Order: sequence, then structure tokens, then C-alpha cells
Amino acid sequence: MAAVFLCLLLSLTATLAVRRQANLEVPAFSAGKLVANVHEPQLTDASGLAASQKFKDVIYTHNDGAGGPYIYAINATTGEVISTMDIAMATNHDWEDIAVGPCGENSCIYIADSGYRSGSSANTIYRVQEPDTLSPSLTLAIDSTATYTWSEDESQTLMVDPNGEVYLIGVIYSGRGMVSHLPASAWGSSTPANIETTQFLPIHTHHHDPVSGDISRDGTELLIKSKSNIFYWKIENGDVLTSLTKPPVEVPYHPTGLGEAICWSADGQSYYTLPEGHHPALYVYSRLGGGHGSSSVIGK
Ligand SMILES: *[C@@H]1O[C@H](CO)[C@@H](O)[C@H](O)[C@H]1NC(C)=O
Repeated sequence: MAAVFLCLLLSLTATLAVRRQANLEVPAFSAGKLVANVHEPQLTDASGLAASQKFKDVIYTHNDGAGGPYIYAINATTGEVISTMDIAMATNHDWEDIAVGPCGENSCIYIADSGYRSGSSANTIYRVQEPDTLSPSLTLAIDSTATYTWSEDESQTLMVDPNGEVYLIGVIYSGRGMVSHLPASAWGSSTPANIETTQFLPIHTHHHDPVSGDISRDGTELLIKSKSNIFYWKIENGDVLTSLTKPPVEVPYHPTGLGEAICWSADGQSYYTLPEGHHPALYVYSRLGGGHGSSSVIGK
């Protein structure tokens, strides 16, 4: 009898130890909290989000193909639109995602004109430098352009790491999209880069996914959004592609309409989502317990 108890006790202790160990790897975030609705009459199909690396608590968004070549700078604490930025000489065939990352000495907004619309995809990435100041109406010039070819119809997920390396993920029913890296040589080249790969995102969903993604500014964490879920990966040794072969963990999402946009805050302490539709609701999810995964709460 005593031996059985001892056995049970030992196995219980072992189980708890394993769980505690595993929890060290698990990031914990709060449930989504409404920041505000974004009252910009032109913003009706928000498709991407990215945090400025130049202006504190400013995030950028844009419409998909219906919307013209505009980026909106939003105050992330109030939802107020601070600036409408016209990207001169750019076309919005179907912009699907944006990211902010370095471009040489500067900080750039990367724009993926990567959606499938009217029977084709532009397969083009634009890069524009973040402006020096934010005023209500700005015109920004293209810093550089890259084009690519692959077998996929479209990508709704553009991510840029702290070295300015660009990643695209294809959209497919089930979410197991092609994971690709854009070679740096594609910038300014008149020849499209072939980004075909044999790597696929290890998620399983019941929609055409994924719809957005973002790498934290320090390059250690990655979020990918599907229509109904948000998936989290730790990036090991700065190796985005290898990290994306590992299974993700799920982090909280507050579903609000058709949500196609996600980004980290610039300090990596929270993330935001913004759905399509008029007056979209900006939600924030804050890291619990400080640091990276020091809490054992994993929530949905
Ligand atoms: C955002 O709004 C807050 C509150 O009104 C304000 O203090 C802050 O300066 C604003 N930030 C920007 C970049 O406009």
C-alpha cells in the first residue's frame, strides 16, 4: 500500500516538474482589451499592422486592394489617426500586410502587394522609409522595390526581422502555407526572385490561412494570425525558418469580425489586432508577469 502511494506521489511530482519546465517556454498574455475604434472613413478593409520603430506608440495600417496606396499612422493608445501617408508611385493591387524593419541605416515600412485579385497577384514588396515627422497628410517616396515568383496565388503574411530579412507565407486552406524567404538581392532588381520552397507552416485550421504575421523588434518572438487563432513561436538563434518548423503555442485572440491584421508593440510587451470593416476595433493583449513567459497561465 505504502509503495503504491509512494509511486503515485513520485509520478505526480515528476508530472508537475515537467509542466513547470514546459511553462517556462510558454508566454502568457492577457485577454484582448479594446483600445478604441479607429474612426477613419477611408479605413474599411484593414489588412496589415506594424509598430513604428521611430514614433512611440504609433502603429501603421492600410486597406487591402480596394483602398489606394495609403498607409495610416494610428496612435496606439487612443486609436486616433495621426497621419495619412500617400506612397508616391506605388500601386495597391492588393496590399495584404506590412511590417517595419531596418533598411540600411534607416527604419522602413515594408508593404506586401501580394494578394490575389482580378485574376492576378502583383508579387511585389515596396519599402519606404519612416517619415521624420508625422503630419495629417504626407507623401512618401519608395526607397526600393522587390518582385518575386512562386507557385502560390497569394500571401497575406509579410514579416521582417532585425536584419531586414523578409519572409512571406502563402495562403492555403488549412493554413499550411508555403514559408519563403526573399533574398536581399531582390531589392532593386528588375528580375523577380524565385522564392519557391518546400517548407510549410505547421498549423492546421479550417479556413484559408494564415492572414498576417509579425516578428518582434528584437527578433526573438513571432506571431502568426489565422482567421480564428493566434499562434506564437520563439525564434531560436535568430533562425526564423528553422523556428517555424517547430509547433507553435496558441495565445489569446478576441475575435472581432474578419481580423486580418496583427503586430507586436515596439517594446514587445504586447500585441495588437485590428479587423476589417468600418470603424475597426483595435485590441491590445499585454504580456503577463513581465519578462518572457515567467507566468504559467496560458489563456484563450
Ligand atoms: C497619443 O495620444 C496620447 C493621449 O492623448 C498622447 O499623450 C500622445 O502624445 C499621442 N501620441 C502621438 C504620437 O500622437
